[in-house]
Amino acid sequence: MTPPPDFSLPTPSPSDQDKSWALIAYLRSLSSSATLSFADYMQAVLYHPQWGYYGSGQVQFGAGGDFVTAPERSPLFTAGLVFEWQQAQAAGLGGDVLELGAGSGQLALDFLQASHQRGCIPNRYCILEISPALRRRQQERLRAALPDALFARLIWVDSIEALRLNAQTDQPCFSGGLLIANEVLDAMPVTRFRWRPGQVSSVEEQRVSCDGARFTWVSAPPSVELVQALADFADKWPKDTLAEAPVAAEINTALPAWLAELQQVLSQAAGATWLYFFDYGGTSAEVYRPDRTDGTLRCHYRHLAHDDPFVYPGLQDITTWVDFERTARLAAAAGFFVDGERSQAAWLLGTDVPEQFTRLMQAAPDRAASARIAQGFKELVMPTEMGERFRVLRLRVEPA
Ligand SMILES: C[S@@+](CC[C@H](N)C(=O)[O-])C[C@H]1O[C@@H](n2cnc3c(N)ncnc32)[C@H](O)[C@@H]1O
Repeated sequence: MTPPPDFSLPTPSPSDQDKSWALIAYLRSLSSSATLSFADYMQAVLYHPQWGYYGSGQVQFGAGGDFVTAPERSPLFTAGLVFEWQQAQAAGLGGDVLELGAGSGQLALDFLQASHQRGCIPNRYCILEISPALRRRQQERLRAALPDALFARLIWVDSIEALRLNAQTDQPCFSGGLLIANEVLDAMPVTRFRWRPGQVSSVEEQRVSCDGARFTWVSAPPSVELVQALADFADKWPKDTLAEAPVAAEINTALPAWLAELQQVLSQAAGATWLYFFDYGGTSAEVYRPDRTDGTLRCHYRHLAHDDPFVYPGLQDITTWVDFERTARLAAAAGFFVDGERSQAAWLLGTDVPEQFTRLMQAAPDRAASARIAQGFKELVMPTEMGERFRVLRLRVEPA
């Protein structure tokens, strides 16, 4: 196992250690003759189908796992999305829901149950999940929890391309409606680099090498993709971050192509779609703040956060903040209409969730239940919890 970090993390079980060793051997074989880009390292440690954190299903969601996402904290998060779904239906959008990266399946479960209760169930609820193990886990959980008639509305696909046609029915999987992606953008592989902010000529890529005992960062000339991504960005770089000393940062160089493919497929759907991307992050100036000299990369292992991505490969989560300003600009360039970005609190308080919260509190059977409901709501909206740090970007696409 890669040596433990200088800080204290729980020791993984022997079987988890074996899994991580297998992944380390695989990564060593990839990096034996050359260094790996950090995006390739991140792709493998998160999405390798046998040993990756998400790919193999190592991830545990919720209170007993490594981190807790909004739909795991309170069903009121999903209630806000059902409200949006009703608005979308009133506006005549397509009749389907598409969820990207459904994790434990909690949001899909709550959405189908709540929309059933409110009489606005989608024709299809399509899940695009790239992890084979999570697809299986979601299918087992939802099959056990939902009546057959609701389960029959679900479809799983493993790529954007697969949305074009359902192999069983020969029909498109998604005919437009609502797209939901909670904490998906932050889990996408990024390229790591050092530079004097805004100066593309100063960029050094931070690649990954294995010196036998552990993975380390090595500086290298930047790849063409990195130079291109930064060149597009350099003149929009927040001016107050201009600094003489080099700093580390991350960027998702694959985002323009990913957004373009998504837009292309969604614009072929019969109806229009509203898209909701939730994540932590901010404007370019916030993500690339001058005092953030080591980027925004964070790792999570059993609710402990740290910044060493080389610890416990395949057993821990790795994330980076989402630059919503750049994402919105790239989305517009890909052909999406950008409807704006706001905090999770502002979004939720603008739906009917406050009324739903009051009704739930009034109907709570005892004090323990009302305390649970209040705590969940507080976590979603309080600025000191998820309310401000988590943002939502809303996009729109019309049929071509
Ligand atoms: C941090 S988890 C969030 C899970 C869930 N949305 C939630 O809020 O609890 C990230 C999820 O996104 C999925 N994912 C990552 N990249 C993806 C992509 N390009 N397309 C679809 N899903 C993706 C992962 O497999 C995982 O299910």
